[in-house]
Amino acid sequence: MTRLPVRADLAGLEPYGAPQLDVPVRLNVNENPYAPSPDVVDDIARSVARAAAGLNRYPDRDFSELRAALADYLAAESGVRLDPALIWAANGSNEVMTQILQAFGGPGRTVVSFAPTYSMYHEYARDTSTRWVQGSRRADHCLDLEEVERILRAERPSVVLLASPNNPTGTSLPVEDQRRVLDLAAGTGPLVDGGPSASLVVVDEAYGEFRRDGVPSALELLADHPHLVVSRTMSKAFGMAGLRLGYMACDRRIIDAVMLVRLPYHLSAVTQAAALAALRHRDELMAQVAGLRAERDGLVDWLRSKGFDALDSDANFVLFGRFDDRDAVFRALLDRGVLIRVVGPDGWLRVSVGTPEETRAFTTALEEITA
Ligand SMILES: Cc1ncc(COP(=O)(O)O)c(C=O)c1O
Repeated sequence: MTRLPVRADLAGLEPYGAPQLDVPVRLNVNENPYAPSPDVVDDIARSVARAAAGLNRYPDRDFSELRAALADYLAAESGVRLDPALIWAANGSNEVMTQILQAFGGPGRTVVSFAPTYSMYHEYARDTSTRWVQGSRRADHCLDLEEVERILRAERPSVVLLASPNNPTGTSLPVEDQRRVLDLAAGTGPLVDGGPSASLVVVDEAYGEFRRDGVPSALELLADHPHLVVSRTMSKAFGMAGLRLGYMACDRRIIDAVMLVRLPYHLSAVTQAAALAALRHRDELMAQVAGLRAERDGLVDWLRSKGFDALDSDANFVLFGRFDDRDAVFRALLDRGVLIRVVGPDGWLRVSVGTPEETRAFTTALEEITA
């Protein structure tokens, strides 16, 4: 058989991905459980039809209208008003962060993160041939700032990836800790033109909209920190996981660098039209978030009332445990039609927040299994 020259570091690996099983209650990938309303669907359909009439042409490669709409959305959501030129988007925040590593990582460069955290970070590093260094979080899932300092000074990473709220724990990093890391990272990057550069600090706020009252967004730190990137997505709170639209807010020079590596016309005209249509309905979509947050807090309370450990969550999922055999609990839930996720430290499981009916299906099944 002809041998194929697959990269040596990819040989024998399995593709990443949670199981996509056809079961009644899917609480495994932190989606918004509510389908878009008929109004949203109509607006998207009409907008996509208009875009379809011009599909013989390449799309607006700088997606100016979409950047302005995203800037408006961020101002409404977090109170931080940004120039649209400071926003960049791609096909999901996974692509946004991969572009960051394409531009700032690569051979001879290092990216750092702190476990437990989102498992795709390691794959961004691998795919861009960037050296991967992983520290660990403290037992309370916050950063150990001494360890962060030690690793940043020793490894001189060009990029630090911090999820806040974090996946799979659901916990946010206190804003004072984010400031400390940013101050430190201002001089811990690789040598550039004979002097130390900054490490870019990516605060991944994929779940930012679910943060509890009083928890600020890292967007508030942008004005003072040119090496900060805040990553967001329409996949979670916005209920548009199928659209594939992620974006980031950061200094213009970071966007200039990303524009060197992005593929030409990477955001299709169809994606741009659908995202713009969805953003026109932001009030309706955001109203769901309050309900989902309440559902999440209720779920944490219920789990604790039944004697489980459950972490406080600023996201739309809850990490709970602890189980001697978490795989057995996962399988028993699946047998009852409820799909959750085996992820995180040993003994813990992660469940996404669903509709009240889905939550009931989950709690009923869990009670049965553990009775
Ligand atoms: C922490 C975190 N960041 C980023 C993403 C990627 O989201 P998307 O590529 O859909 O924007 C996810 C998805 O689960 C996530 O959990």
